[in-house]
Amino acid sequence: MCQFLLGHGNTMTSQALLLSRMAPLGMLLVLLMASCFTFCLSHQNLEFALTNPEKSSSKETERKQTTAEEELDPAVLEVFHPTHEWQALQPGQAVPAGSHVRLNLQTGTREVKLHDEDKLQNKLKGSKKGRRLDINTNTYTSQDLKGALAKLKEGAATGHAEKDKARQAEVKRLFRPIEELKKDFEELNVVIETDMQIMVRLINKFNSSSSSLEEKIAALFDLEYYVHQMDNAQDLLSFGGLQVVIHGLNSTEPLVKEYAAFVLGAAFSSNPKVQVEAIEGGALQKLLVVLATEQPLTVKKKALFALCSLLRHFPYAQQQFLKLGGLQILRSLVRAEGTEVLAVRVVTLLYDLATEKMFAEEEAELTQETPSEKLQQYRQVHLLPGLREQGWCEITARLLALPEHDAREKVLQTLGALLATCRDHYRQDPQLRRALASLQAEYQALAALELQDGEAEGYFRELLGSVNSLLAELR
Ligand SMILES: *[C@@H]1O[C@H](CO)[C@@H](O)[C@H](O)[C@H]1NC(C)=O
Ligand SMILES: *[C@@H]1O[C@H](CO)[C@@H](O)[C@H](O)[C@H]1NC(C)=O
Repeated sequence: MCQFLLGHGNTMTSQALLLSRMAPLGMLLVLLMASCFTFCLSHQNLEFALTNPEKSSSKETERKQTTAEEELDPAVLEVFHPTHEWQALQPGQAVPAGSHVRLNLQTGTREVKLHDEDKLQNKLKGSKKGRRLDINTNTYTSQDLKGALAKLKEGAATGHAEKDKARQAEVKRLFRPIEELKKDFEELNVVIETDMQIMVRLINKFNSSSSSLEEKIAALFDLEYYVHQMDNAQDLLSFGGLQVVIHGLNSTEPLVKEYAAFVLGAAFSSNPKVQVEAIEGGALQKLLVVLATEQPLTVKKKALFALCSLLRHFPYAQQQFLKLGGLQILRSLVRAEGTEVLAVRVVTLLYDLATEKMFAEEEAELTQETPSEKLQQYRQVHLLPGLREQGWCEITARLLALPEHDAREKVLQTLGALLATCRDHYRQDPQLRRALASLQAEYQALAALELQDGEAEGYFRELLGSVNSLLAELR
């Protein structure tokens, strides 16, 4: 996918350049390519700036941060080193220019290898006519590039003299003012697409019956990047794109369901306008159907992620969720074998919903104003009684047996939030008492070690505090 059909030498001007991103970083990419490709090709060296093997720790927050469910973490960029064999690409890894990327439909992973040199040469020879530099930025996000460029700068500042001087010059050149860059692009006859145009193109690709499954998944994969931005997600509404993606949940292809849910989770997140439209468009029912039916775990994970994004801070959706039997569906989900990962996420969601409502009430009390419409809606979300009736007191308590500390942390939090609702139940639950006592002993020991290391307010001490206060409440 990352195809570079380049001409030799400096004949750039005749090449139409299709760039998929409007962002300045996209421009930088083009320049990077433009300035690099002569070098890259004439030296048969397909490595360029992005191949720095160290992890980039760039903590850019241009992409809206979503919740922990989101699995592609743009903050952690690893650069992948392709060989001549296909290798699986992990989420968030950047791929050096000249690599060939494909989607493995069996595993759902992206795979990468080097372009065979001779094939590349053939392509170059064969593409004299109507030459076109087709930069498909599928495999990069502007985040990746920023990270890589920052790394490159860093390297230039600290590394070996000769090579790094060249790099430094390169970096300086890349950071030329935007105006200057624009002029360059005009000269190069570059086509730059806006985010909106890109999204329309991706939606059309996904919606077209002539697209292959691989193309559809790739379109969703790319779309996910764009809808993180609130404006983009709202623009998706304007041309019916959101509905097309929601309809993707209805697909018979698990991968389409998975990636559609992935896009929706990103689009809903903290975006009320999109959440409202999604509820009207039937997204909630479709997500619940996915969660209630037999699906691969990866599909359920993403569907749960989308559900969480849809419900958070949206009491109307929470009401609908309860009405549609959402709690029963989640209960079946967490009771199934091998779904502990999902169980912790479900419990976290319930905790968030319970505390969200509580905060809304507290805030109203403090301000002494007449209840807002939102608060009135929260008051119609009867979550806690539903939880008790459906056995969530017990389900949550059993999850304390999970071995991971962070999972237990979530469970302890949730037990605390359910205390008022579940107290009687908990008092008569010897298994819970035993589990808490055992955790108490474990965290006393760990907190003592922590203290020895000079950490008075450590993580384990905090966990121990939660355990202790639960035990005190159950006395
Ligand atoms: C998607 O495809 C259907 C049928 O081919 C068409 O009616 C619809 O307008 C398309 N939607 C978008 C947003 O392109
Ligand atoms: C697809 O969605 C329609 C309504 O939008 C629904 O009637 C139908 O049952 C769904 N099909 C599947 C396979 O879920």
